[in-house]
Amino acid sequence: MALRLGDIVPNFSAETTEGIIDFHQWMEDKWIVLFSHPADFTPVCTTELGYTAKLKPSFEQRNVKAIALSIDPLASHHSWIKDIEETQQITMNFPIIADEDRTVAELYDMIHPNETEKFTVRSVFIIDNHKKIRAIITYPPSTGRNFDEILRVIDSLQLTANYSVATPVNWKNGEDVVIAPTISDEEAVVKFPKGFKKIKPYLRMTPQPNK
Ligand code: BEZ
Repeated sequence: MALRLGDIVPNFSAETTEGIIDFHQWMEDKWIVLFSHPADFTPVCTTELGYTAKLKPSFEQRNVKAIALSIDPLASHHSWIKDIEETQQITMNFPIIADEDRTVAELYDMIHPNETEKFTVRSVFIIDNHKKIRAIITYPPSTGRNFDEILRVIDSLQLTANYSVATPVNWKNGEDVVIAPTISDEEAVVKFPKGFKKIKPYLRMTPQPNK
C-alpha cells in the first residue's frame, strides 16, 4: 500500500555515496528530505542536486538532512558527482542512494509505471524528527522541483507543529498566520499575546508567534 501522511517511514538498508546506511539510524533526531530523481547524468537532476547542496546551511538551521535516490549504480553516482560539482560550483554534501535493485523505490512508490517504468519520478518525502511522513510531493521527470518551496513547507510544518496556527496561501516565514479553527477567541487572546485580527469568525490572522 502506498505511503501516506502520518505514516512512520519504513526502514531500509542501502548503499549510498557516503557508505551503507540503515535509514532509521541515519535519520538520527533530524527532519529528513528524501527525494528521488530519474537518472544520473541528466540535466534537470544535475541542477536539482547542485541546488540542494547549496541549501545545506538552510537545512541545518531547520535541523534537516537531505538524501537523494535513483536506481543508478554507485559507480555512476560517484562519477556524476564530479559533473555536479563542476557545473553547479558546489561540493556535494549529502548522500545519494544507489537503489539499483529498486528496493527503496518500490517501498516508497517512487516508480509510476504509467509515467515511465524506466526510472523513478521526482518524489519528495518530508519526514519529521519522529520518523513520521509530514508531506509528500510528486513531480514528473520533465519538471525540476522548487527546493525553496520545500524549505517553505518545512517552515510551515515546523511552525504548525508547535503553535495552534496554520499558514495561508503563499505564506512565507515571518508573515502573518491564521489561528486554528479549534481555538476559541478567548483562548486566542491568551495564546497570541501579539493580538489577532478577526476578519470572519473562522478567519483570524495573527503575527507569526515564534518571530
Ligand atoms: C532530467 O533530469 O533532465 C530529465 C530526466 C528524465 C527525463 C527528463 C529530464
